[in-house]
Amino acid sequence: MNNHRQKLIYLVGFMGTGKSSVGTLLAQQMGWPFVDLDTIIEAGQGASIREIFERAGEAFFRQLEHAALVEVSKKEPAVIALGGGTFAQKSNFDLIRQTRGVTIWLDCPLEELWQRCSTMDNRPLFRDRKSFSRLYEQRLPLYRQAEFRIATGARSPEEIVQEIIRLGLF
Ligand code: S3P
Repeated sequence: MNNHRQKLIYLVGFMGTGKSSVGTLLAQQMGWPFVDLDTIIEAGQGASIREIFERAGEAFFRQLEHAALVEVSKKEPAVIALGGGTFAQKSNFDLIRQTRGVTIWLDCPLEELWQRCSTMDNRPLFRDRKSFSRLYEQRLPLYRQAEFRIATGARSPEEIVQEIIRLGLF
C-alpha cells in the first residue's frame, strides 16, 4: 500500500460489532497502541457513556466524541476503535478522510448485533428493536463508505484479525 498513508487504522461499525475486542487483538498483533474512543471519552469525563448521555444528552456526547477523535488522530501508529455513531457524523467522517488513515468496517448482521447488545448495559442508544433496526439502516450507507469491509457474523475476533492482517495494509 502507498507509503504516505498515516499509520492509523479506524475500526468502524454498529454497536456490538466487536470493534473493541478486534481492535485490542489487532493492535497486539501489529505491535501498535490500541485506542478505544469511548474509553477515552469516559476517562476524560470521569463518567460512563450512559451517564454522559443521561446528564448532558447526545449532542454533548457528540461534541466530546469529535474532540476525542481529533486528539487520538494526532498520534500514529494506532488502532482506533470508533463508537458506533462516530463514522456517521459528517465532521468525523471528514476528519478521518483527512488523516489518510485506513477505515475498516466490521459488518455484522443485525440479528447478531441485537443478541449481543441485549446482554450489555452501557449503550444508551440500545432501546427497542424498532429504533435499533432504524438506526442500523440509517447508518449502513455511511459504514459502506469505509475503505475495507470485513464480514464478522459469528466469527471469532482471532479470525477477523487474521483477515485484516491478510489485507497487508502496512
Ligand atoms: C453509540 C455507540 C457506542 C457509544 C455511544 C453511542 C452509537 O459505542 O459510542 O453509546 O451512536 O451507536 P459502541 O459502538 O462501542 O457501542
